[in-house]
Amino acid sequence: MSDISLPAGASSTKLTVSGRFNRLLAAPKFQAWAARFPLTRRMVRRDGEALFDLVAGFCHSQVLMALVDLRVPSMLMDGPKGATALGHRCRIPTDRMAVLLRAAVSMGLLKITRSGDFKLSRKGAALVGVPGLREMILHHSVLYADLADPVAFFRGEVETQLAGFWPYVFGADGQGDPQVAATYSDLMAQSQLMVAQDTLSVVSFKGARNLMDIGGGTGAFLRAALVATPDLRGTLFDLPEVVAGAQKADLSDRINVAGGSFRHDPLPKGADVISLIRVLYDHADETVAALLSKVYDALPDGGKLIISEPMTGGDTPHRAGDAYFSLYTMAMRTGKARSADEIMQACQAAGFISVSAPKSPRPFITSVVVAEKRPNIL
Ligand SMILES: C[S@@+](CC[C@H](N)C(=O)[O-])C[C@H]1O[C@@H](n2cnc3c(N)ncnc32)[C@H](O)[C@@H]1O
Repeated sequence: MSDISLPAGASSTKLTVSGRFNRLLAAPKFQAWAARFPLTRRMVRRDGEALFDLVAGFCHSQVLMALVDLRVPSMLMDGPKGATALGHRCRIPTDRMAVLLRAAVSMGLLKITRSGDFKLSRKGAALVGVPGLREMILHHSVLYADLADPVAFFRGEVETQLAGFWPYVFGADGQGDPQVAATYSDLMAQSQLMVAQDTLSVVSFKGARNLMDIGGGTGAFLRAALVATPDLRGTLFDLPEVVAGAQKADLSDRINVAGGSFRHDPLPKGADVISLIRVLYDHADETVAALLSKVYDALPDGGKLIISEPMTGGDTPHRAGDAYFSLYTMAMRTGKARSADEIMQACQAAGFISVSAPKSPRPFITSVVVAEKRPNIL
């Protein structure tokens, strides 16, 4: 194994131990040997499959996008159908439709019946059943356009379209177009139910009387919290054009709605718990620091802050946070995804003493940080 030729791009400068190891792993002769050797060949095959999945990832996303855009999962809700019938409804020739459908089978979204028709798998049915999932998948066409030249994207040379998709976030602060606000709030509200579910499963409102949800959109999280905690009252605080679309459902006697900007306006008084659900990652560090200080000042001694949003993995990067939300927020150009540690440090810098990050059930939906303003014992 000593005759190992260097892979393209490797330099011949003095090597560290891990550099030598990398060269060994990358050398074609070693790869060929490891693929045959009984103790390593399963590992080599697993690595190869995982690498190929990454190589093909774009095709997988586009198959999903086509399937959802054409509403194929909805067409299969009543039962299996053949490629000809589906192709006819989607205006796609049968042979090409069969390629799309078989691709979806390979991805676990559809199944083939004995008669050769196609039916929904459990995951495929979720494409119809999970609120907002179709809209979320479709709006990715904007993100994918921004990522078309990934090197230029990471160099910061792309005028991203996603930044214009959510214009109010950084431009129309308090004076935005109600139509834009409504479209945005709808998309957020659809997924907010899942975010609310996961957040409420790891936080407690025991002893709390008044929850203020800052940047609460049209109030989905606040409503879910109040339904789960019958004695709790709530304040929804967001930009005026956003709270104009607020839905109180049958909780109107327990919800107070306040329009304003956390940048320029004082926060309403009286809350002993404040929540920031998917708010911080929209904003730069200075805005986050100013908002956390304002929240700290607005809370009484013993008051609690709940932060819930997708977070990066910090020292242990994970795909949802580090290979999706970080890129998404980078394309938005206003904020960034942060790790739980970074958010906890920002809370401490604002004055919070007791901070923790309870384990979240689905980090690809949201992660949670809780901070308490300790009672003043002097
Ligand atoms: C990503 S959305 C999250 C909405 C909701 N919390 C959710 O999880 O679905 C961010 C929210 O922050 C609000 N927001 C942005 N800037 C704000 C500001 N300066 N003052 C108050 N709310 C603001 C937006 O209107 C929007 O509703």
